[in-house]
Amino acid sequence: MRVVVLMGGKSQEREISIKTGNAILKALRELGHEAIPLDLDETLCQKLLELKPDKVFIALHGTYGEDGRVQGLLDILGIPYTGSGVLGSCLAMDKEITKKILTYHHIPVPNGVCVRRGEEINWDKFPAIVKPADQGSSVGLYLVKEKEELNSAIRKIFNISQKVLIEEYIEGRDITVGILKDQALPPLEVRPKRNIYDYESKYTKGMSEYIFLEDDELIKKLQDIALKVHKYLELKDISRIDFRLSEDGTPYVLEANTIPGMTELSLFPMMCMKKGIDFKRMVHMLLF
Ligand code: DAL
Ligand code: MG
Repeated sequence: MRVVVLMGGKSQEREISIKTGNAILKALRELGHEAIPLDLDETLCQKLLELKPDKVFIALHGTYGEDGRVQGLLDILGIPYTGSGVLGSCLAMDKEITKKILTYHHIPVPNGVCVRRGEEINWDKFPAIVKPADQGSSVGLYLVKEKEELNSAIRKIFNISQKVLIEEYIEGRDITVGILKDQALPPLEVRPKRNIYDYESKYTKGMSEYIFLEDDELIKKLQDIALKVHKYLELKDISRIDFRLSEDGTPYVLEANTIPGMTELSLFPMMCMKKGIDFKRMVHMLLF
């Protein structure tokens, strides 16, 4: 099969997408497919029309790649692709919209507000988590300990996003649940060596510990919620739902990722492995 792997792209997560894309290219080639990498630029349409791939594997993260835009282009060209369609991609990329949909369905999410440029900031609960509402990989994520630091964090985020999300900081644990082909994978807890699972802790070896949960009741609870989130946000085939489990045992959904990272340190392939699905098998499952 001829597969174009879209990788790189124009978001803050370009570097991560290249790592994800290279891992997928390698797996596709080992599976015997003709795999061709393409980046997101103005020649993309023409190249796709010339190559006529049987499928596009989208290995892009963030703006343009994970937010429905490239999915819309592929729909127009009539080329099938991996993962969620336009609607699910749009909904999940925007953490404010995600929160609204999940709240409607009575799924706990951290309290928070969104601020756009020029808007008044009404927030006085600290510590707070401050982050762009529409980006990934914890780029531009700040743990703000007191009110005096809030404006400067917001200003920095406005350099990379139009919309800033301010959320209550929940004391607890970071846990993630992958969904592959609409089945929940084993929940994985991440313990960053620093106090927060930020970009550096995500992508530097040795900066986080990874522990699979053993409590069957908790596993089932998190998997059930993750499957609901996947469904409510109209996601398809793959997603990774990130949680903060509070000290009183409430699982708060932080966000849904429609194209989870597939780097050496990424959580999604680890969860697949735990279920006995190696990287190549995972790639194969996403293709068909
Ligand atoms: N946005 C990054 C790549 C992730 O979710 O893994
Ligand atoms: Mg994310």
